[in-house]
Amino acid sequence: MRLERLLEGLAKNALHAALGVDADPVLRATADAKHGDYQVNGVLPLAKREKKNPRELADLVAKELERQGAFAGVEVAGPGFVNLRLDPAWLAKVLAESAGGTVLEPAATREKIVVDYSSPNIAKQMHVGHLRSTILGAAVVSLLRAVGHEVLGDNHLGDWGTQFGLLIVGMRRFGSEEALEKTPIEELERVYKLATAAAKEDEATAAEARAELAKLQAGDAANRALWQRFIDVTRKSLDVIYARLGVSFDLWLGESFFDPMLPSTCQLLEEKGLARTDAGALCVFFPELESAPADLKKIKEPFIVRKSDGAYLYASTDVATALYRDREMHTDRNLYVVDARQGLHFKQVFAVAKMLGLPQRFEHVSFGSVLGEDGKPLKTRDGKAITLASLLDEAESRAADRIREEGLDVPEEELAEVARAVGVGAVKWADLKQNRTSDYVFSWEKLISFKGNSGPYVQYAHARVASLFRKGGLDRSAYLGGALTLEAPEEKELAKRLALFADVIHAAAETAQPHLVCDHLYELARVFSGFYEACPVLKSEGATRESRLRLAAATAEQLRQGLTLLGIVAIDRM
Ligand code: ARG
Repeated sequence: MRLERLLEGLAKNALHAALGVDADPVLRATADAKHGDYQVNGVLPLAKREKKNPRELADLVAKELERQGAFAGVEVAGPGFVNLRLDPAWLAKVLAESAGGTVLEPAATREKIVVDYSSPNIAKQMHVGHLRSTILGAAVVSLLRAVGHEVLGDNHLGDWGTQFGLLIVGMRRFGSEEALEKTPIEELERVYKLATAAAKEDEATAAEARAELAKLQAGDAANRALWQRFIDVTRKSLDVIYARLGVSFDLWLGESFFDPMLPSTCQLLEEKGLARTDAGALCVFFPELESAPADLKKIKEPFIVRKSDGAYLYASTDVATALYRDREMHTDRNLYVVDARQGLHFKQVFAVAKMLGLPQRFEHVSFGSVLGEDGKPLKTRDGKAITLASLLDEAESRAADRIREEGLDVPEEELAEVARAVGVGAVKWADLKQNRTSDYVFSWEKLISFKGNSGPYVQYAHARVASLFRKGGLDRSAYLGGALTLEAPEEKELAKRLALFADVIHAAAETAQPHLVCDHLYELARVFSGFYEACPVLKSEGATRESRLRLAAATAEQLRQGLTLLGIVAIDRM
């Protein structure tokens, strides 16, 4: 059930019945509860267009709205707005029919969507940017699935490119098999550094790296095997991180998968007149292309798809990937959950895709940087990049400390597991609650706090509602849906919040903005806490008790579903 959808429908009907027009009612939640819950603003532009008195038209619309049985108050205000106050009995009925607002109807059209996310690079540590992509991407996948789309999560690994020449030379000259087994990424980073330094020192090493790269690209068996080993060992350590984060992928189509398609991709670009050779390199010059978007036409630097030495680039791979997602996967939408700093790259790739005639939507789900408390990109105390594993370790140990300090109800044998759920949940929440386009400052204090807008706070709120049912010896699921009596203001407020769940999930899914879910869950937890203080639940009686238990069950269920969609464990006892 989508409350705002439903109300929009009612308002649209009223406009039609009163004025005989099909118009957008422009429904808004009111900023001040004094004026009711919602406002219809659509009469004003209509009156202007028809040159009629807006207040008179608004009066007619208000009369129609009054007849719909959904509102306890309908009032014309200002120059011609109609303020609406929801009728608690109507709201109760709507919630009763939708299992406390938890039923998510599917989106109007089911789309096939690829979500390209996480996508770290082989032989390199995952950095905080990859963490953000992983957390955001996984949440976007779950949200889109929850509203009925066919979604494929794709880990577009950086597993191809010029660095492999140096890695091969480095491994053969300086590498240790044992270290590669034990600490693969550290070992690969170490030999890569040594090989880079050696190649700088003497031209022979540089030439050797180029030759090894060429052999790899030509399919040389020994080099292919070594490259495959780099991938396997990196994948093994990535899998450990993904398991800790509870993230999995449907596809692992890394850059190497697209390598065989690069020559034909470049050929197509040339044939379509989108790319031409300049000083030996194949380039797209946007200012020369009539159908290019205006902002790209201003950029003189070419978008290079093949270098003069014949090497392909990140750009060529992404154009080939776009073609593949169209021709082989037949997607309707393609989302790329990648750092804002790659904004121009994706604008260029998407523009090329469009000029190639690809019909689907391509969207850069862009996000800002994670900053340290000094406002600079997050680093360790000694200035190194923070590894994901160490970040999660610290989150878990801090969570265990906080759980002990707060004196929470967690038996010692469950502590490690709860600390894991709280620590990882806190890191995810801190990331997801932000409007993704902004940078945010990483603060351990706020992250692991049980107060304020934090993961632990919402997990705790969920556990508290769960414990209410335990205390009463009641089965929570038996109270999902059913008749409500909304009398106390706190009951009405909680019911209004609950009724927004489906709207929020749909909006968050369609716009790839998980923070909308965080906002809802946090508000829900807060409103519930006000309700719980004002309205006794287990101690009340009769229909009031039943109704309050139903409100509590719906709250618990929304917190559980919402947290789960965000990839955060909903704990029953803490
Ligand atoms: N491997 C890239 C990086 O670490 C991210 C890849 C994102 N996906 C894509 N199709 N370009 O920056």
